Amino acid sequence: MVSVRSRLWLPFTQMQSFDASARTFVAGDGTRLIDAAGRSVFDAVSSIWTIVHGHSHPAIVAAISRQAQILDHATTLGATNPVAEALASRLCALTRMDYAFFASDGASAIEAALKMALQYWQQAGEPQRTRFVRLVDAYHGDTAGAMSLSDIAVFKSRFGAVTFEAIPFDRLESIERNDVAAVIVEPIVQAAAGMRIVPKTAYEPLRAMTPLLIVDEIATGFGRTGTMFAFEQLQLQPDILCAGKGITGGTLALSATLARAKIYDAFLGAPEARVQFFHGHSYAGNPIACAAALASLDLFQTEATLENARVLAAAVAERLARFDENAAIGATRQAGLMIGVDLRDPGAGWPVANALYERGHFTRPIGATIQFVPPLSSAREDVHAFFDALEGVVA
Ligand SMILES: Cc1ncc(COP(=O)(O)O)c(C=O)c1O
Repeated sequence: MVSVRSRLWLPFTQMQSFDASARTFVAGDGTRLIDAAGRSVFDAVSSIWTIVHGHSHPAIVAAISRQAQILDHATTLGATNPVAEALASRLCALTRMDYAFFASDGASAIEAALKMALQYWQQAGEPQRTRFVRLVDAYHGDTAGAMSLSDIAVFKSRFGAVTFEAIPFDRLESIERNDVAAVIVEPIVQAAAGMRIVPKTAYEPLRAMTPLLIVDEIATGFGRTGTMFAFEQLQLQPDILCAGKGITGGTLALSATLARAKIYDAFLGAPEARVQFFHGHSYAGNPIACAAALASLDLFQTEATLENARVLAAAVAERLARFDENAAIGATRQAGLMIGVDLRDPGAGWPVANALYERGHFTRPIGATIQFVPPLSSAREDVHAFFDALEGVVA
């Protein structure tokens, strides 16, 4: 048989050693992925924190199909559509924010947020506010601005030529500087840092601060930490809130940058004043993606998704407690259904993940941390099956 060279270049993947036969997903069915060899594996990372109600949920598929037949796409540069309007209203009601600006991936929501903050301060009479403050170990995406706000060296060290320095947030004084445009935080969990849990006290100074607060809910939003949005557990008032990943239930690329009225109002003026937001993408407010998002939000009610997520989180907590006596396991961390399990052997991440795959569970390690971020629609049995397999593999 003549082998055909793959023309596909995968993100964050060493193509020289990548074996496509090991991980080629050809179908999705609820919480499971089916690979080219016909194996059905549990999607224990929700395809990197995107899938909420399971793969190809019939209600979302139907909404996508319906909308594709009515209006596939129409630009929102100087125009609007009823589906994007409806989603903007739903998201604002859910988050108690005032306006929604749409883009596609999470990183593009972050780019919009940081440009929104910069232009806001220019138009609010404090143009010297151009610096950004971020958490230690932050991750906000891979575009130039988002990388600049991130702190994970391996992702950004090559790209110093196109990034700027953000200030690490470890002291209150850094926020009080009058050159700070915004502080950006991941609420509760820093997922890319290995499901690092930020102590709630770290957020306290942010309740009474003067610059803008950008809350990045791209990984944590839509129920992953137990509430619809993680910031609800921190009594924070975001000025700008970024959402992505699970916004469409994990079916289509869509992200949102939600803003408070004080920000939106600073962009109002006569056309010749040229104070409109100078930013936008071709597919902003795409009706098919917005229809998927509306269908996903409906499912949170009809399928009691958050209640199920709480039941699953309790089952996970029981299983994590059993690791206290496991010599192969170091620390464990859990916020709702975002879980990190540290392996004591620093080189064990991929071998354990590969062995889990053989046992029917798909996860991707972060260094020596095994992550478990199951779809919110999973069953308790899925949780137990995953931890049974993990206990078996490390034994
Ligand atoms: C907290 C956070 N912000 C932003 C992003 C970037 O999102 P995307 O990969 O959709 O660009 C991620 C991705 O993992 C993330 O975890």
